[in-house]
Amino acid sequence: MKVFLVAGARPNFMKVAPIYRASRKHSHVVCKLVHTGQHYDYEMSEAFFEDLDLPKPDFFLGAGSGSHAVQTAKIMTAFEEVCLAERPDLVLVVGDVNSTMACSIVAKKLLVKVAHVEAGLRSFDWEMPEEINRVVTDSISDFFFVTEESAVRNLVAEGTSREKIFFVGHVMIDNLLYQATKLENGGVDVKTLSVSPLKQSAHPYAFLTLHRPSNVDNRDVFESIADALNEIARTRRIFFPVHPRTKQKIDEFKITFSRNVILLPPLNFKESLFLWKDAEAVLTDSGGLQEETTALGVPCVTIRENTERPVTIEMGTNVLGGTTKESILHAYRESLGKAGKGSVPPYWDGKASERIWDVLITNYKL
Ligand code: UD1
Repeated sequence: MKVFLVAGARPNFMKVAPIYRASRKHSHVVCKLVHTGQHYDYEMSEAFFEDLDLPKPDFFLGAGSGSHAVQTAKIMTAFEEVCLAERPDLVLVVGDVNSTMACSIVAKKLLVKVAHVEAGLRSFDWEMPEEINRVVTDSISDFFFVTEESAVRNLVAEGTSREKIFFVGHVMIDNLLYQATKLENGGVDVKTLSVSPLKQSAHPYAFLTLHRPSNVDNRDVFESIADALNEIARTRRIFFPVHPRTKQKIDEFKITFSRNVILLPPLNFKESLFLWKDAEAVLTDSGGLQEETTALGVPCVTIRENTERPVTIEMGTNVLGGTTKESILHAYRESLGKAGKGSVPPYWDGKASERIWDVLITNYKL
């Protein structure tokens, strides 16, 4: 069975890595790694491949940045050529980025089966490009691998046949546990990490990531978020690895941060984990970090009005913070009360990738 694993943007690499690793137990599966090139800077792309123990991609499509239409079209055109030449049996896509949607459409039109990992999540917020990507991908997938119960309900409500839905847990957590074990067991010499000296001198501290267009592309919203962060930073440091989109907007809007908000370049997975796992709280608009903080019991404030990952609030350590100064500060205080108190959602046990291969292999009767 020839399977294409598609990855294009930073959060995809974390999800594909454990699936790729788990495939090696099945000698009759040939996995080819397709990197669409949606992310291309060293810190956003190559650093992750090295860090996550991923081999170099078999195919690099070099799509790069552009408007949604341009980026999606470039990925589709390049991916179609590779599919026609290679004829995979299955295309596996992860998450909800433009590469996910683009490659699923191409595969389906070539009558290649599509597996969507992290299917069924819904924010019901049509201003998020990711919501469109999720719904389109789920409308044409053949295998739906889901991370939480809400996703099963969403898919069933949309008419997806129950037999195609597989509640396997979360590959993002497979990667997290694999990397956290390496950090704890001395598999990584933490003294060599660039952020080590920062961490030593800074307890308690918070950790921040911010990149959603709805937060950083609007001057008023970005300024009120910055007000909240500067207030929190009166009494503790906030470490803030800055996404390229966010960097552009900080410069354009001349957003000012207090000296306690420490702006860093984008960090690879290990450096980032090393910082946030011991943070007093994480503030973020990322999907993955909401889940990873729940898995490790670290308080999390989601700087958004909604989340497509409700289990992190119902069971875990996540609090919705909205985007105003008051709502973020309120959520920050609330989140601290959740430290170590949440529980870990079902199947977030590091074995989701193995379950995915079991399902695929059974269905292909190999
Ligand atoms: C994309 C995903 C988002 C995901 C995020 C993780 C979509 C619609 N969005 O958003 O869901 O959470 O990745 O990072 O797929 N840029 C660089 N170097 C890079 C990549 C981007 O400088 O390697 C800059 C470019 O100016 C680009 C901008 O960042 O225009 C935005 O990049 P893009 O890939 O369009 O979207 P993200 O905001 O990264």
